[in-house]
Amino acid sequence: MLRVAIDGPGGTGKSSIAKAIASLFGLEYIDTGAMYRSMGLKALRKGVSPDDEEAVKKMLEDTTLDFRDNHMYLDGEDVGGLIRTNEISMAASNISKLPCVRAKADELSKHLAATRDVVMEGRDITTVVIPDAEVKIFMTAAPEIRAERRYRQLLEAGKPADYDQILEEIQKRDYQDSHRELNPLRQAEDAEFLDTSEMDIDQVIKAVSDIITAKTGVRPAEV
Ligand code: DC
Repeated sequence: MLRVAIDGPGGTGKSSIAKAIASLFGLEYIDTGAMYRSMGLKALRKGVSPDDEEAVKKMLEDTTLDFRDNHMYLDGEDVGGLIRTNEISMAASNISKLPCVRAKADELSKHLAATRDVVMEGRDITTVVIPDAEVKIFMTAAPEIRAERRYRQLLEAGKPADYDQILEEIQKRDYQDSHRELNPLRQAEDAEFLDTSEMDIDQVIKAVSDIITAKTGVRPAEV
């Protein structure tokens, strides 16, 4: 069994890295943030406040989540194209403090990790979802660097971008995600620490790949 668990704050490039690692090692890529984003999207659509725990609980009673072949399904609808906005980032972070929301994402994540070889990324994968993963990594980068990367991505995509606003949102989400009561973002004691501030994507892929090989003896298909 090979389970690679990666945690870290938003905007560190965890998903790009995890996707590349999945293809190099023949693992299934699981994006747990997409699960929280989907629940945030549904709450926004239904006008349910993350502060109204009873209403969220009721909403989740008839909510189905599934993550298959790199696609996130909310009640059978592929919502991949709808959940990558700033509004949904904050909605996901806000709703993720609720126990019923975390239980819903945990149930699916744990089931997926128990039935296949995965590379799974999020905030509590190394500490709660797969604490006994064969490989555990805590990936981070300075907030200013993450904001700069996001700013460039938006400009390159021809979208409007305001660096100061992006930085402020990153810092707010970092604070919320690492200060909530239940399963906050924190580095597991036995996780490898990787600061990607001064690294480009290929260097990070190589570093993660080397950690996997050192821990498990498994080599990538191509480097
Ligand atoms: O990784 P992401 O940016 O897509 O995650 C969106 C939000 O979901 C994040 O701000 C906090 C929450 N989240 C979480 O609480 N636990 C996870 N394992 C993944 C995401």
